[in-house]
Amino acid sequence: MPILTKDTLEFISRSPDQTLRVGARLGRYLGGGDIMALEGDLGSGKTVFAQGVGMGWGSTTRLVSPTYVLMRRHRRHQDALELYHIDLYRLTTAAEVEMLGLDEIVGSPGAVSLVEWPERHMGLLSDDRLWIHLRILDEYRRSLVFQAQGERHQMILNSFRQELTGQ
Ligand SMILES: Nc1ncnc2c1ncn2[C@@H]1O[C@H](COP(=O)(O)OP(=O)(O)O)[C@@H](O)[C@H]1O
Ligand SMILES: [Mg+2]
Repeated sequence: MPILTKDTLEFISRSPDQTLRVGARLGRYLGGGDIMALEGDLGSGKTVFAQGVGMGWGSTTRLVSPTYVLMRRHRRHQDALELYHIDLYRLTTAAEVEMLGLDEIVGSPGAVSLVEWPERHMGLLSDDRLWIHLRILDEYRRSLVFQAQGERHQMILNSFRQELTGQ
């Protein structure tokens, strides 16, 4: 469990719908180069949260679990930005990361990246990122801890915190 500091925000979600809505709020702030690392056990809500982010960001396609393909690309109408939904759960070799060109995508100026199971390939993420720890509390409650690293993602977290808590 991370220590709660000014770079950290904790939110308790009470339903899948609430997780979607919180994700959607965050999604509105995301632009090129932004990286969201979604860490948590199976069923903790990483994909549900990512779906909300996609909605808030304005994706023209629904985010689904990318588990079997490792990566799915999404777009939106208003600009040429792309959103990459990556799931490293089934990643077996570092060569796969290279084959998919993930290194060139994550953090690049034209791409927003959402990475499930980021701890499976830490080398993929730059130090400037928003780390989101999801934890199962009980059947419907999930703890979401947002931890910003780097100036850029601290700014995102500040705006998001303000919207979420009014502080
Ligand atoms: N508060 C909640 N937030 C998100 N998902 C929840 C919540 N409560 C129950 N769930 C359920 O937990 C599951 C989360 O699935 P998913 O997002 O695919 O997890 P992950 O991608 O972390 O493996 C879904 O079946 C969802 O309905
Ligand atoms: Mg998932």
